[in-house]
Amino acid sequence: MERKIAAVTGAASGIGEACAREFARQGYTVAVLDRNMDGAKRVAAEIGGHAYELDVGDENAIEACAGWVEDKLGPVEAIVNSAGIIQVPVRPAELPMSVFDDVVRINQRGLYLCCTAFGHRMVTRRRGAIVNIASISGMISMPLHAYCPAKAAVISITECLAAEWGPVGVRVNAVSPGYTLTPAVQGAIDRGQRDPTQLTKASAMQRLVDPSEIATVCAFLCSPGASAVTGINVPVDAGLLCGVTWTQYGGMRMPLTNEA
Ligand code: NAI
Repeated sequence: MERKIAAVTGAASGIGEACAREFARQGYTVAVLDRNMDGAKRVAAEIGGHAYELDVGDENAIEACAGWVEDKLGPVEAIVNSAGIIQVPVRPAELPMSVFDDVVRINQRGLYLCCTAFGHRMVTRRRGAIVNIASISGMISMPLHAYCPAKAAVISITECLAAEWGPVGVRVNAVSPGYTLTPAVQGAIDRGQRDPTQLTKASAMQRLVDPSEIATVCAFLCSPGASAVTGINVPVDAGLLCGVTWTQYGGMRMPLTNEA
């Protein structure tokens, strides 16, 4: 049987890397796309995939990449758009517009362009699935004045394209991770920009998410098991959205032992 092809942006690290590994584990041939070519090559070598240097901030490069992947590997069945950058939680007055523009260019515009470059090819074939990595920060406010709106836009892009391409059977969904222990988050913790105790204490499960736990949901959304699922946003957040308001009541608590 012919191997199916998956593409993952931002696949050299964190959630994208975990997705590339999960798709490979499930038998896909994976295009490992990232602007960090050394990292992409490392992941590709470990999973028997193919590395390609892609900066999703570059519109022409995205189109060239989609062409390269399909010419070299074949029709892409599934793409996960994970390439993204985080920002420092500063006040609006302290947020340079150059940072704002970078976040929008990569996290929002770049993701949209990846959807369309690969999506148009899927539409022609009338098959394919796209998963966009959004964030719980696109669903509730945080002091991230560029990142949160860009992630809210990712959820909206997902819904718009799902409706647009639903008639030809191309599915588009989003996954919204909660705080996930990736090199990006670990780096922010190390720099004192995020406090791990604060990140975990509002989540029902009192822990960070592992990148592999995002990857398995992404792979499910691209699988035949999700054949009627499109236009949705799945939070994978260890219960942060349901737990966050409990801080107003003293925070999460352990069940009484006769309930446990
Ligand atoms: P990460 O920094 O570990 O990995 C991001 C990857 O994207 C890196 O390999 C980087 O080289 C690549 N990348 C960045 N800009 C790029 C560009 N212009 N073109 C191509 N590749 C580029 O980060 P992490 O944590 O794995 O984040 C992945 C996605 O998940 C991002 O979209 C992020 O916003 C999102 N996310 C992460 C959360 C977390 O807690 N780690 C929570 C919610 C969302």
